[in-house]
Amino acid sequence: MNEIKTCKLTSAFGLEVAGVDPRTPLDANTRATLRNLFDESGLLLFRDMADDLRFQTYLSEILMGKEVSDPDALALIERCYVSNQEPDGAAPFGRLLYHSDQMWSPTDRVDVLSLYGKKVEQPATPTLFVSAVDAWDTLPEDLRSRVKGCVALQRYDVDTYKKRAAGDPDVLVSTYGGGDAFVTTPIAYPHPRTGRTILYVCQQTTQKIEGVSAEESDRLIDALLDHMYAPGKEFAHHWRQGDLVIWDNLTLQHARPNVTTGGPVRTLRKTLAPLPRSTMRPDYAALESAR
Ligand SMILES: [Fe+2]
Repeated sequence: MNEIKTCKLTSAFGLEVAGVDPRTPLDANTRATLRNLFDESGLLLFRDMADDLRFQTYLSEILMGKEVSDPDALALIERCYVSNQEPDGAAPFGRLLYHSDQMWSPTDRVDVLSLYGKKVEQPATPTLFVSAVDAWDTLPEDLRSRVKGCVALQRYDVDTYKKRAAGDPDVLVSTYGGGDAFVTTPIAYPHPRTGRTILYVCQQTTQKIEGVSAEESDRLIDALLDHMYAPGKEFAHHWRQGDLVIWDNLTLQHARPNVTTGGPVRTLRKTLAPLPRSTMRPDYAALESAR
């Protein structure tokens, strides 16, 4: 049994966790404790972790609620890096707008994401987080009742990027090989594990609200995004090598300020649980070159 200690990262979400012996399998009490902490806080930070892809993958799977009877049999995805140095690294440069991974996909929901600081030079660009559950809980009543029964269309498209980038040429545009994939989702989205309501719109891929005029759709989305990303709502995780950050991809959205290919090395190893079947290698372009 691990002696787990926690420290809040913000008043609304996120915990730094100490005292976990990072070996597989974790005992049943530790698994239950970590699952509760994860579902309550949405994000767990472990410092000074050894480079161990198996433990990173195992932790993601158990926090998703899966029982892992044989950790040694887990499929490990090597070389899944967000990196400005590795030749096959994802998102090698640019600013990323707020999103949840695969939010636009009709088939592949990702529940848990993690990043491990494999090689981090300072000053490292942080990863930014906001809570979409807190955003729903604190939404002004008139706005909440206006959007409660509405659905939104989620899709990657350059026009939405341009609108949300508001002229920032550093914003990274991702174009997936699948191209036209999109999905419509309720704006008040019930979390499949916790039952809490998620404000399910994001800066990167929410194109429009169905059933209202284009002007009303823009007005409502702007109001929802202004609320979600208001000053004081954001948590910036400043990376150190050996950090493991694991978060609920539905409860929280993530983003980052600009990263440059010539800047300090920032290689973060990523896991996704469950692993999307439709993941394709995206092509990237800074917004300036997409104009
Ligand atoms: Fe992402």
